[in-house]
Amino acid sequence: MEKMLIEGGHTLNGKVRISGAKNSAVALLPAAILADSDVTIEGLPEISDVNTLGDLLEEIGGKVKQDGQTVHIDPSQMVSMPLPNGKVKKLRASYYFMGAMLGKFNQAVIGLPGGCNLGPRPIDQHIKGFEALGAEVTNEQGAIYIRAKELVGTRIYLDVVSVGATINIMLAAVKAKGKTIIENAAKEPEIIDVATLLTNMGAKIKGVGTDVIRIEGVESLHGCRHTIIPDRIEAGTYAIAAAAAGNEVIIDNVIPQHLESVLAKLREMGVEMQAADEQLLITPKNPLKSVDIKTLVYPGFPTDLQQPFTTLLTKAENTGVVTDTIYSGRLKHIDELRRMNAIIKVEGGSAIVSGPVQLEGARVTANELRAGASLVIAGLMANGITEITGLDHIDRGYEKITEKLLNLGANVWREEMTDHEIEQFQNS
Ligand code: EPU
Repeated sequence: MEKMLIEGGHTLNGKVRISGAKNSAVALLPAAILADSDVTIEGLPEISDVNTLGDLLEEIGGKVKQDGQTVHIDPSQMVSMPLPNGKVKKLRASYYFMGAMLGKFNQAVIGLPGGCNLGPRPIDQHIKGFEALGAEVTNEQGAIYIRAKELVGTRIYLDVVSVGATINIMLAAVKAKGKTIIENAAKEPEIIDVATLLTNMGAKIKGVGTDVIRIEGVESLHGCRHTIIPDRIEAGTYAIAAAAAGNEVIIDNVIPQHLESVLAKLREMGVEMQAADEQLLITPKNPLKSVDIKTLVYPGFPTDLQQPFTTLLTKAENTGVVTDTIYSGRLKHIDELRRMNAIIKVEGGSAIVSGPVQLEGARVTANELRAGASLVIAGLMANGITEITGLDHIDRGYEKITEKLLNLGANVWREEMTDHEIEQFQNS
């Protein structure tokens, strides 16, 4: 087990290339189940979530060949194998095996998904969608059993705007009989990416990117080649890191429109930037002004960048209020940031960040993915050395983060933890 060490105070400069979108990748891979012939996906991020999903595709009989960032999946020998335990528990996105296997085999048995602990993360809207399409869904000893004689298109209104439920229902509906209409659908770019793959496979989908998606079921889907979109959350993380500790940072392979809410907030703080076709140039000017942020569904401010942004606010003048309306429990980074000298009060579910303060290096733990990113940024800003444990979480979502930061001029490295440190970490 490794820990990350960051010596703060080194200014970031230069160019960082953004990887393919994690939250697309984790849906595109299961979507390949629906095809009858080879699917090739290019530009996948090299992160542990992608490896885990590749292993799961092999468990059900897929032939998966990974060639760097390109993955070839031959789904022709896949079978409707139950996946009640094991790797499905490792990540949240294993729930996409439900929709994809239901769509392909009219049945699925999938263990309740794992993933970051952000407070309650129900999947009632996914289940509501499967049931509306004609499936019977039961929860037996921690696994979801889904069976249908046949899937028949219908109108489904989502009570909560959900990325996962929107994608999962699309996966189940593309081969259903007749027309499915998903109302109050989520509009995230990752949903458009999945719909693009499905359309290339022969699916008939309209309205993606709006809140009404219309799907006309087809008999069969074929293989195709697809290139994934860049990761807007990784790009946003580096933009925030650049604002926090950079001089001139170019973020390459980004779609700036996907980050409009975040860039608007950075501008409001006084961060200067220029957006080009696939690049962003971030040139922060001090002092920064505090802003309030409230996370919302896309195109609002993304919950996945709330924690990195909270770290940035410690450097800004006055008080900024951070409210996460998507995951009210996503505050696990606060105690760790306080260890580093941050002044943050939690009141009524909002974090009130007072600044500016000089963060100090400390031993901290990443207890989920984006909390981890917020601590990495804090380490870049802090005096002295910050030691971060819990890297498994960070490696689930950020490709080669140590190398990318080193290239930008940060002083960051990894070390094996001693047995004593591992014991302390496991008991924390
Ligand atoms: N919700 C329900 N019922 C459901 C589904 C969702 O009440 O059936 C609620 C959730 O509890 C939450 C809200 O609806 O309060 C939105 O959840 P959503 O379903 O949109 O989230 P998700 O699909 O589980 C994806 C990303 C998350 C990201 C959210 C919001 C993946 C694998 N995960 O989760 O990514 O935070 O959308 O944008 O795509 C991350 O990358 O760090 C991460 C957690």
